[in-house]
Order: sequence, then structure tokens, then C-alpha cells
Amino acid sequence: MYRTHTCGELNIQAVNQTVTLAGWVQTVRKFGSITFVDLRDRYGITQLLFGENLNATLDNQPLGREFVLQVTGKVAERSNKNPNIATGEIEILVDSFKILNKAATPPFTIQDDTDGGDDLRMKYRFLDLRRAIVRKNLELRYSVNRAARNYLHENHFMDIETPFLIKSTPEGARDFVVPSRMNAGQFYALPQSPQTFKQLLMVSGYDRYYQIVKCFRDEDLRADRQPEFTQIDCEMSFVEQEDILNMFEGMVKYIFKTVKGIDYNETVQRMSWDEAMWTYGNDKPDIRFDMQLLNIKSVFKVNGEIKADGSLLNGVDFKVFNDAETVLAIAVPGIAEYTRKQIDELTEWVKRPQIGMQGLVYIKCNADGTYKSSVDKFFTEPQLKAIADAARAKAGDMVLMLAGLEERTRKAMSELRLELGNRLGLRNKDHYKLLWVLDFPLFEYAEEENRWVARHHPFTAPKPDHIDIMIQNDPEIRDAANYLQHPYANIKANAYDMVLNGNEIGGGSIRIFQRELQEKMFAALGMSTEEANHKFGFLLGAFEYGAPPHGGIAFGFDRLCSLLGGSETIRDFIAFPKNNSGRDVMLDAPAQIDQKQLDELSIQLNVK
Ligand code: AMO
Repeated sequence: MYRTHTCGELNIQAVNQTVTLAGWVQTVRKFGSITFVDLRDRYGITQLLFGENLNATLDNQPLGREFVLQVTGKVAERSNKNPNIATGEIEILVDSFKILNKAATPPFTIQDDTDGGDDLRMKYRFLDLRRAIVRKNLELRYSVNRAARNYLHENHFMDIETPFLIKSTPEGARDFVVPSRMNAGQFYALPQSPQTFKQLLMVSGYDRYYQIVKCFRDEDLRADRQPEFTQIDCEMSFVEQEDILNMFEGMVKYIFKTVKGIDYNETVQRMSWDEAMWTYGNDKPDIRFDMQLLNIKSVFKVNGEIKADGSLLNGVDFKVFNDAETVLAIAVPGIAEYTRKQIDELTEWVKRPQIGMQGLVYIKCNADGTYKSSVDKFFTEPQLKAIADAARAKAGDMVLMLAGLEERTRKAMSELRLELGNRLGLRNKDHYKLLWVLDFPLFEYAEEENRWVARHHPFTAPKPDHIDIMIQNDPEIRDAANYLQHPYANIKANAYDMVLNGNEIGGGSIRIFQRELQEKMFAALGMSTEEANHKFGFLLGAFEYGAPPHGGIAFGFDRLCSLLGGSETIRDFIAFPKNNSGRDVMLDAPAQIDQKQLDELSIQLNVK
């Protein structure tokens, strides 16, 4: 027997017991004739005391960091107790020990504040995973997994596996493809999600499906995106949007409670996509703090006059605002005291290429009721007050304004709002705020191709009262410059995203379940009948055999875990993640393959 106990379970009650432990050497500290060793395993750390009697043996067999060690000895009460760890009241007086395996000196320290950089830790991920901080992340991931499974099981969802080697199903990203040896010249695609399979399972009558499943997308990576990631993927039959929203806010609340002990009793707020874009400039707004975007362009008259309290003020001639398509303002609480230097720094921030604005206009709403602005010479004080009022600023606030083209300015203001939220400590990661964003547009306009693309995916149904607009109108866009006038631009989808603290953690929709409407959708996306049949004949065919009304959702499992773990980097919550270039630096993958393998696959490379 290698051990009687783990390194995390012995306490004062075990004093005088003889025990055997096994684990890794965390530290070795020699004090004169005695040596202390911290022995570590998944469950914790136990202090070992090697007395004088073992000195000679230790000299012959010195212990190094990360050696795998087995010890037998008696549990004793410690004189200097460590209240921070579970085993802190005891130590083991070692009688005998055995080195089970030696270890090379690790390239970085195996502790929470390690000296290893990102790349090094990824290369030696198996060592990185020994660090308690990383292990806790994976433990959290496992508890989210268990909680989700429990909830779904209790609600009659059935876990059904779906294949990984499939046919390309476009969902917005590029597919990863796998060549078939037995079918020369042909390729499987790895699923971007099990979307069509879960819909087929509804046609098959399984009623409630779920799967915690890998998805593969060849897309640009960010902190919250990996090329292979995991979804909690779900589908239900005979449901409307309301049923799905209730079921899955229930799931997230259950996960909060089970994993974090949080009672999320408040109703999950709901917001239309239009409202989200209008008030936050973002389809996944962080609603933990206010600072809504206000379009103050309407405060200005085209001729340069400004309107306050219904009366007209004259003499405003600020070209930057007059010429701009939009002027957006936010009232930032309590920063009227910002220094010149702090404001200059914010101005530089909005001028960075990622944000791309020309400049930042401010109005300080001083506590004494006066106003001070970067554009003092263009505006009188009552005019500044009128703008500040339009931006709903209070004394002590500072109004920040950006002017420019609608879309870019809205995006930039949304970023600025988040940045200020961070700077002012309004985005506390322990404060969880859920939000449903609803009523997305069904279509987006793809300028380069002058056609519609599905905003969510092609299986999403329009809102019930928008189905007729889709059926009755021709999707063709004849006037590209005025595509917004096309009836399709106004069709809203029966789709919903769940947003947690400004992150999209889940998204889904009620599906199309009639062949005709699905065909119309494919046609609207510019697919010919042949192409639609070639790509999705199986689904269209299935819809002819009694497809029930159905809908579903998929949660980004890695994202949910990282947010519950207080991080926005999903890599920290994945055992073996890829780096930002999509590489596994430990395996050194992707890599070339042998000519023999290429020949078997009938593949000829054309790498320049
Ligand atoms: P969607 O594409 O919105 O929907 O994905 C669902 C959720 O998966 C997460 N996610 C990702 N997480 C990490 N890395 C990525 N590259 C990545 N891409 C997406 C997000 C997202 O909200 N089949 C539909 C669901 C449905 O309609 O039921 C789908 O996949 O948190």
C-alpha cells in the first residue's frame, strides 16, 4: 500500500497514529540536525519532520524539489501551528522514507506566485497543473460540470453523444477539416457545435437533450476564445422562448448556488438587442454599473444652435459636433476632480488605434454648480449645462463625449465606458449580474457579398409575427446603399443570449421546424436549392417526417467557469489549452506529417 492517508486530511485528532503518506516534495528546509519537508498532493500539504536519526540517510539520498516521496511516521502536534492550512496543527515525525522517483529541477517554481512566464508554463503544463491555483480552477470546472449535469438530469434532459467527424455546417467561423483516407479527396469537418444533430434528436422525439461537448472553430483567438472549447449544449421540444429562458436561468442560478453558494434571487433582467446597442453600444452590456450612452446630437440644432429646457440658445459653432453623424455622451460619476494629466491620459486612450477616435471632449460638472470644459470657447456656461443635463450628469460628474460615425463612435464609447468602469472599480468580479439580450436581428448585411447572413445561425426562427415578412418578401437586395430599407433588415429573430458581467456566456434560439421556411431561409442567405439540398438535405428531409416545434441554447462552459473563478481568461480553466496562435506548445502541434501519411490521404501540399 502506497499510502494510508492523503496529504490534506490529517489533523489534531490523528495525533499518535502511525501513517504512510506519498506525494511530491514542495520544499526542503534544513535546520541544524533536523529537516522539514512539505509534502504535497492534490489534497493539500503536510509537514514532515526528519529527525537526527535520519540525517545520514538523507545525506546519502538527498531530497530535491518535486521528488516523489513515500514516508511512514507518527502524527505529532506542531509547536508552531499554521492556521492557513487544514493540516497546519500537525506534522509527521518520519520513521522511514522511500524516494519513489527523482525529479529534474522544475523550470519554474510550483507555487501560486510562480516565477514561470506563460510560454514556459504552457510548455510544461503538466508541472503548471501541479500548482494549487491551477488545480482549484479545474476543481471549479468539475463542480460546474457536476452542477449542470445534476440540474439537467433532474429536469429530464438526456445526455446523448453526437459525432465529431461530420460534414461542414457553417455557423459563422471556419471549419477544421479532417481528410478521409478511405474516401480519397474527401474531408470530414469537426463540428462548430452539434446544432443540426440536436435538432434531429428533437425530430426523433428525445424531447430534452444535453451534452457537455467539445466544439471546434477556426477563428481568431482572444482571451475568451479557444479553437476547441466546450459547450453545455441543450435542446428542448414543444417550447417557446419563455420556457427556455426560465429553464436556463434556473440552471445558471442552480450553478451559482451549488458552486459558489450564491443565492441569485433577483429576476434576470431582459433587454432587447436594440436597447442594448442604443444604451450601451454593445450587444453584451455589463449592467453592473450605469453610465448609459446618450445621443446628445439631438440637443444641437443643425444650424449650430443648442436647445436647453425648450428654449433656443444661439451662437454654437463647434464644427466637430456639427459635422459628426453622432455625438455620444456618458456621465461618469464623481470624477469632476480629474486632473489635466488624467484627462490627457484618457484622451490618448481613445486615440489608440484599437479605439480609433480623434479626440475626447469633456465637461466637468463642478460641485459648486459651475462647468468647465475642453470646449469652453465654443459654448457658454448655460450651453454646457444644457449638454450636461442631456447627459444626465450630476454635480461632481464629468461628461465625456465622442463624436464621429455612428457605428465606430458607439463602439468606442462602449469601450470607454467599460474602461472607466474598470478604473473606477465598478466591475467587481464577485458581483454577478445576469442579463438576457433578446430580439436580435435575424439577418446581418454582408457588404462584400451584397447578401444577407444569419446573425445567429441559419436554423433560427424569426419572431412569430415576423415570419410573414420573411415569407412575403423577396430577399434579394437591389439597392445595396439602402439595404436598411429592405423588409428583411427589420426581421427580428426568436433568439436570446445570456450575458454575465459583460460576457456572452450562452446563446440560442427557437428553431425553424418547417421545410418551407427553412428553404426560404437558405434562399435568403444566397444558397441555391441544389446547394441547400447538398449541405442540409438531411435536415430538410427530416422536417418532412413530423418535426416538433423546438428550441435550445448552448452555454460557453469554459467562459462560465472562468467568470465564476474570477477571471476572463478561459485558458486558465482548461487543462491543456492552446496559445493565442492556436498552438499547443507542449505537444508542439500543429505539426507536419510524414510523406507516407500524406500519400495515404492522397494529399499533395502546396505550402509556399
Ligand atoms: P454560439 O455560437 O453562440 O451558439 O455559442 C454558444 C456559446 O459558446 C461560447 N463560445 C466560445 N467559447 C470559447 N471559445 C470560442 N471560440 C467560443 N465560441 C462560442 C459562447 C457562446 O455564447 N449552436 C449554437 C447554440 C444554439 O443555437 O443552441 C451555438 O453554438 O459563450
